[in-house]
Amino acid sequence: MPTIDHFECSRCKERVPADGPRTVCPKCAGSLYVRYDLRAVRGVASRDEIRTQAARVPWLGMWRYRSVMPDAEPVTLGEGWTPMLQSRRYANAYIKEEGANPTGSFKARGLALAVTMARHYGLRKLAIPSAGNAAGALGAYCAAAGIEAHIFVPRDVPFANYVEAIVYGAHVTLVDGLISDCGRMVAERKEKEGWFDVSTLKEPFRVEGKKTMGYELVEQLGWEYPDAVFYPTGGGVGLIGMWKAFGELEELGWVRGKRPRMIAIQSAGCAPIPRAFEQGATASEAWRDTATFASGLRVPKAYGDYIILEILRVSGGTAVAVSDEEILASLKDWARNEGIFLSPEGAAGTAAYDHLLATGFLKPEDRLVIFNTGAGLKYVDVIAEAMGIRRPPTTR
Ligand SMILES: Cc1ncc(COP(=O)(O)O)c(C=O)c1O
Ligand SMILES: [Zn+2]
Repeated sequence: MPTIDHFECSRCKERVPADGPRTVCPKCAGSLYVRYDLRAVRGVASRDEIRTQAARVPWLGMWRYRSVMPDAEPVTLGEGWTPMLQSRRYANAYIKEEGANPTGSFKARGLALAVTMARHYGLRKLAIPSAGNAAGALGAYCAAAGIEAHIFVPRDVPFANYVEAIVYGAHVTLVDGLISDCGRMVAERKEKEGWFDVSTLKEPFRVEGKKTMGYELVEQLGWEYPDAVFYPTGGGVGLIGMWKAFGELEELGWVRGKRPRMIAIQSAGCAPIPRAFEQGATASEAWRDTATFASGLRVPKAYGDYIILEILRVSGGTAVAVSDEEILASLKDWARNEGIFLSPEGAAGTAAYDHLLATGFLKPEDRLVIFNTGAGLKYVDVIAEAMGIRRPPTTR
């Protein structure tokens, strides 16, 4: 495993020494990337070693990419190496099934690494504002690491997220408001309480953990890029992490082809990224009156919006807003016709696929990966309500 050479600011490119835990760029408050000297693992021999190493142990998950991850003892619950499912109906569409992760969502990857590094640095108390799944994941990894988790989630968070956080023994605060209000509460209290803030893009390791999705999708497609990647975007950690992975894969000589078009999907009830993308803006404006049942997409303004928008542009991608009606229709469609119970966020991706096929932005022969970022089962309360499903009263 490589040692971290330095951190690099995503905005002003400042080099920040890797001498301990870091938050954001000390100069401009931009998000930091982890940088290594990867020369020792360049070339396909090191790449092929990944498979050989993984075959030697019962389970490695995302840690099969330890040769490009920070040198620290992992806190792991089996995250990563999730299924890549070919659609039964669209031969060139693959679902990357992140619902198979521990805690039922892709948030496991970023928080496994953030907690690994927190333990490595000797941090004792972590705090997070979350739309729900990140809170559950932080609770689980903190429990595994023996670290305190302080969780701030909106009061109307999916019930599973609330229950799991309590079960893991986290300190949970329900907030009357959105993730942005939760973030403000963490920021106000962290100094006094001695919490390290693991908010989206305000520390470098959640992006670094989520970059494994980029390595994985390329490896699972035979070390070749797909034509497009669909990513339901809240804070954009996974999109940013995958783009970082693609840069590294090219530097390492591990991948063939042209980088995919990156597609960010949001709900029409909270669509700051599609709006900014359409306007050609380099940053987004906070969305007002946020309303969508895809709770992971209820992010009025992403801290790393400038990075997301840049990636969409340079990749020749786009940003799509789909309505809650379209999301629900696509969720039912994939459940009934494919046997896949998508999360509302994942179903925003499949709905966007229908939309981009209809407009001709994508062709049926384009090979693409749609991220189902969480398991539909984590949303039974939300989906039951949206579909009007009620348990019939028991008769005696
Ligand atoms: C299931 C699901 N999908 C997508 C997202 C958005 O993720 P990101 O903040 O990495 O854009 C979230 C965030 O909570 C989520 O829980
Ligand atoms: Zn900076």
